[in-house]
Amino acid sequence: MNFRKTLLTLAMAVALFFPSLLIAGEDPTLAPGYYPKEYAGMKNPLPFSLSTLREGRRLYVGHCETCHGVYGDGKGNSAVIGKFDPMPRDFTDDNIMSKKTDGMLFYSISKGVHGTRMFAREEIMPAKERWAVIHYVRIFTKTEEKEK
Ligand code: HEC
Repeated sequence: MNFRKTLLTLAMAVALFFPSLLIAGEDPTLAPGYYPKEYAGMKNPLPFSLSTLREGRRLYVGHCETCHGVYGDGKGNSAVIGKFDPMPRDFTDDNIMSKKTDGMLFYSISKGVHGTRMFAREEIMPAKERWAVIHYVRIFTKTEEKEK
């Protein structure tokens, strides 16, 4: 195989298997950590109540736990066994999570995180369910120690 052919094959492999890399390189709005203003400022319309948390927990177990983990530490079975890169978000990391508004989480859950295994949920989960699971996800940083 000559040099040009090798290059061409490489380029095709990249385009075929990592199209997200090419697109993300061109479009800054697809980069992880980008949140449109209209989303970032959104307020969670649901009350932080026992019934919302019950619903959020049910959804988390069904839709999120396999990757984000029973303890929300990002070490769910699928992610550990599949050696995901990047690993799912660690919801117990207060340093990161305290900088994310509910609206930012809503954006990522709705649209997915480009170039990661976090796919868009807006077609499969009604908005109300996405907001409920956000309240539940917040539980992982509300530890007893901090409440003292
Ligand atoms: C197939 C595995 C998988 C599933 C299922 C999954 N996630 Fe993720 N999630 C990821 C990965 C991977 C990331 C990217 C982490 C990163 O960017 O560092 C992520 C990131 C996130 C983030 C952080 C986004 C940000 O902007 O900081 C949130 C919030 C999130 N997921 C919520 C959820 C919720 C809620 C569910 C269930 C409805 C869910 N995820 C289901 C793999 C998954």
